[in-house]
Amino acid sequence: MTGWNASDIPDQSGRTAVVTGANSGIGYVTARELARRGARVVLACRSEERGTRALEQLCSEVPSAEAEFRRLDLGDLGSVREFAESYGDGGVGGVDGGGGEGGGAGEGGGLDLLINNAGVMALPYRQTVDGFETQFGVNHLGHFALTGLLLPRLLRTPGARIVTVSSAFHALGNIDIGDLNGERSYRRWIAYGRSKTANLLFVHELARRLAATGSDVVAAAAHPGYAETNLQAAGPKMEGRKLAERVMWLGNRVLAQPATAGALPTLYAATAPEVRPDAFIGPRVLGWQGAPGRSWRAKWTLNDTASERLWEASESLTGVRYSGLKG
Ligand SMILES: NC(=O)c1ccc[n+]([C@@H]2O[C@H](COP(=O)([O-])OP(=O)(O)OC[C@H]3O[C@@H](n4cnc5c(N)ncnc54)[C@H](OP(=O)(O)O)[C@@H]3O)[C@@H](O)[C@H]2O)c1
Repeated sequence: MTGWNASDIPDQSGRTAVVTGANSGIGYVTARELARRGARVVLACRSEERGTRALEQLCSEVPSAEAEFRRLDLGDLGSVREFAESYGDGGVGGVDGGGGEGGGAGEGGGLDLLINNAGVMALPYRQTVDGFETQFGVNHLGHFALTGLLLPRLLRTPGARIVTVSSAFHALGNIDIGDLNGERSYRRWIAYGRSKTANLLFVHELARRLAATGSDVVAAAAHPGYAETNLQAAGPKMEGRKLAERVMWLGNRVLAQPATAGALPTLYAATAPEVRPDAFIGPRVLGWQGAPGRSWRAKWTLNDTASERLWEASESLTGVRYSGLKG
């Protein structure tokens, strides 16, 4: 696997991928490289303007791309439901598109790859439309709901995968099951770490439940190390903290790798044949830069009791039940 890069992505012709947060950073590169290898891609983005702009750019960089934009706001469960319900009603994920060999003719498109990439980092305390703390709500609950609603399509698609983008910063915080929404105490970096721990616990429990059901769908996690994207400046921008924005920008210029490299762990987790369920893939050089490989993870992200409790809480908070899976 040494030196694995985007040119090692196997042919994706006939496969369909949904990439959340595909209008910028790692999500954009992920969608573009999957399209370059022949996948049909759905850019699932919250802003129509940014999403269609990204779609235009992708189509100019990969003229053969089969791609479309669809609106998805992970901070609004209504939008998540709308996205999942309309997925497959024509377009890239439509009846004639997607689903590999087992595609979902008759019930709309199948789905080969779901890339849960979108995320926000270290924001001041804010709530989603549904009243969840934003980092937990967007990074974890939105993706939990989206995956559950799209799961029937993934289950009937041979070789389907679900890749959830976490972070090495998951090590900043284990989840507090009694205070998932940061109501008792909120520290923005700890909350980010907790949301990224939630991503890993989600993948852990999802992989366990898929195995118990006898499904061959692979659920894996990835992280980009430190990559230069819009992520770092979003929090400071939201509060007009110019100095912090400048520091983030400088850190990106000096220390980060480009988004093209940051996307490699996601692309590897999504397409390399050797990736196993519940794998956590990241850059190999100090978990920071370089080619993708197995990544270190905090022990608490493999705790069965915690992953089960988070799963139950997430079903109850979102109202999305994974009825197709054995508990
Ligand atoms: N860059 C790094 O060094 C790094 C390190 C570790 C982990 N990560 C993870 O990598 C993933 C991708 O981040 P990035 O670095 O590529 O940052 P980015 O350039 O800021 O991309 C984040 C994407 O998420 C989208 N998003 C934010 N809130 C959303 C919502 N409510 N609904 C739908 N989409 C939403 C953003 O949309 P808008 O453009 O509309 O805001 C954007 O498309 C994240 O999960 C992040 O936690 C990044």
